[in-house]
Amino acid sequence: MMKDLFKISSLFFAALMLLTGNHALAQALKDTIKPTELWPDNNGKHVEAHGGGIIKVGKTYYWFGEDRSKDNDPEKRYVACYASKDLVHWTFRNQVIKTADPDNLGKNFVLERPKVFYNKKTKKYVMYMHIDDASYKMARVGVAICDKVDGDYKYLKSFRPLNHESRDIGQFIDDDGMPYLIFEDRPYGFRIASLTDDYLGVDKEICLIPKHMEGGALVHYNGLYYAIGSSLTGWNANPNKYATATSLSGPWSEFKDIAPPEANTYGSQSTMILKVVGDKSTTVIFMGDIWEPKTQWDSRYLWMPLQIGDGKLWLPKPQPWTLNVKTGEAKIVD
Ligand code: GAL
Repeated sequence: MMKDLFKISSLFFAALMLLTGNHALAQALKDTIKPTELWPDNNGKHVEAHGGGIIKVGKTYYWFGEDRSKDNDPEKRYVACYASKDLVHWTFRNQVIKTADPDNLGKNFVLERPKVFYNKKTKKYVMYMHIDDASYKMARVGVAICDKVDGDYKYLKSFRPLNHESRDIGQFIDDDGMPYLIFEDRPYGFRIASLTDDYLGVDKEICLIPKHMEGGALVHYNGLYYAIGSSLTGWNANPNKYATATSLSGPWSEFKDIAPPEANTYGSQSTMILKVVGDKSTTVIFMGDIWEPKTQWDSRYLWMPLQIGDGKLWLPKPQPWTLNVKTGEAKIVD
């Protein structure tokens, strides 16, 4: 079905080319990020990388996320890895995690929001993920490790970071390369913590923002840190908000809406903010998930370039756009 859709859209582009004789236009449309639509990978299958995160290794971006494919074994949880040079066309690499209940958490155990960090010293890829039982009471982070970015990750352990509850996690790598884990600690709020030298543990708390937010994401842009989070409404969308600070440790400003509150973040929930620095410009991308709780494999993505600067951040309404990772320029397709 998905493959057919992909074929149909390829045919559509070919027809468009013939009809308009405009190769450049047809190519531009093909190279467009289309928020809310199916996002076919190199096999024509919708990208399965929900609640995901991205790292750049050399010139390649790797997108990791929850693989909720319909034909996965329901007893297992999967994390998929995709590669891209332009953030638009994604090649499926591997189901880097396929595990049955690693910690005896019982039926319907939870493995969500995987995020991978590369440790230059140990030359290992280290994955953090939310690990839980079906009722979300364990509230732990899991850690897995691999020698290759898209290899089979080895699950190591789970724990409560700094002895706090941890449900949704987010990842932040600062401009100096330092890695941080963002985690939602239900009794207290939104925490930012550094990792140990080998990245296998959570080292120190950098900040507790006493605000109940999940889907935590951070970016450093023009001398300011911006934090985005969503309210705690499960799979249902809510108005995501942002705050700013000159230092990761705060003080943080009040949280403000990132979009008209009645739009509920256009049906999405934050998972990461990705900064693309090019030779002409910088684009800061909001990466959100549009969850379909009953048909998770069909959950969509809302990626849009943010309007950001001088302490303000705004998510434009979802519309197709193009990105040039070399120049760092994003363009909304009219
Ligand atoms: C959301 C969270 C998702 C998932 C869901 C389960 O709040 O962001 O990652 O855990 O709850 O209801």
